[in-house]
Amino acid sequence: MTEEAPVPHRRRKRYAGTHPRRFDEKYKELGADPEAVAKAKARGSTPAGTHIPIMLPEVLEALGPLEGAVALDCTLGWGGHAEALAGRGASVIGLDRDASELQRTGARLKAAAVEVRTFHANYAGAAKVLRECGLDGVDALLADLGVSSMQLDRPERGMSFKADGPLDMRMDASRGDTAAQWLRKADESEIAEALARYGDEPDAAAIAAAIKARPPKTTWGLVEAVRSAKALAAGSLKKKTAFSSHPAARTFQALRIAVNGELQALGQLLRDLPWLMRPGGRVALLTFHSGEESLVRQSLGEQAALGLWTEAPAQPRKASGAEVRENPRARSARLWRVVRAA
Ligand SMILES: C[S@@+](CC[C@H](N)C(=O)[O-])C[C@H]1O[C@@H](n2cnc3c(N)ncnc32)[C@H](O)[C@@H]1O
Repeated sequence: MTEEAPVPHRRRKRYAGTHPRRFDEKYKELGADPEAVAKAKARGSTPAGTHIPIMLPEVLEALGPLEGAVALDCTLGWGGHAEALAGRGASVIGLDRDASELQRTGARLKAAAVEVRTFHANYAGAAKVLRECGLDGVDALLADLGVSSMQLDRPERGMSFKADGPLDMRMDASRGDTAAQWLRKADESEIAEALARYGDEPDAAAIAAAIKARPPKTTWGLVEAVRSAKALAAGSLKKKTAFSSHPAARTFQALRIAVNGELQALGQLLRDLPWLMRPGGRVALLTFHSGEESLVRQSLGEQAALGLWTEAPAQPRKASGAEVRENPRARSARLWRVVRAA
């Protein structure tokens, strides 16, 4: 056993009020302060700059024995699932279309001596990555869809209504239109359709009209458009509990899905899925909203009918009550699992 160097004592940073105001302060503090991390978890929040892997035991069970397996994590994020896969003896390839989070996660995993081969790639191009790796398929595949807590936590990414920031929303900041540009280019009916289709937003038409009347450049500009369209008083915009949703939540989700072409990428992954797997290979997909669910249900169902999957449960699993209490984001998670026919 080697002796560890003593950790120098650092005074906790003091703020006016009870919390740091600036996100970068909050981020640094939580990264370095285990006490603050424990407190954030105890009040049902994900500590800033981290992401709690959803339904981890259920995902591991779905993916079966991993010793010696080749596993593809299509959505590396913070690397929580990937770390667990590697810990069970899998050789892990991790993809993410977000270059900056990918770089942070790569560094985090390296510092923790967790081996994961990382690729900056959209999972719609997973087949190409496997070819580059000289692989004919994988034994285990995970896709944990949507955004990570770290992306939501960074105001400069413009994904969250919680903090003001530029209305960007792109997961891959190197390409495509920002959400602000997308809203300027789209006409009112296109915006209304996206809000209804990707967010099930009941006031889609009114919100689209408010957006076109005054195209927002910032996240809070978009919140203001939702507030005026729903004729809400300014004070009613706060979430009441960790489990209730913000009036702008559906609009933000819908716009993010549209800007990132999320359902198009998922559609491509689902079409390629049987051909990414070795015989007997196991797949776990975590979906978070009805648009993802119906694509996955339909595609896996059709492929099962063709005999491509042996085990294809008709219904997805939900997170346990205990997990949802600890991590409210798990409440809408649905885990779909299939096994490739030999
Ligand atoms: C919910 S997080 C994954 C969290 C991860 N399982 C963990 O334990 O930390 C989803 C991640 O997938 C990435 N992502 C979303 N769509 C993607 C796509 N089409 N291709 C590659 N990565 C994608 C996002 O950038 C985000 O980092």
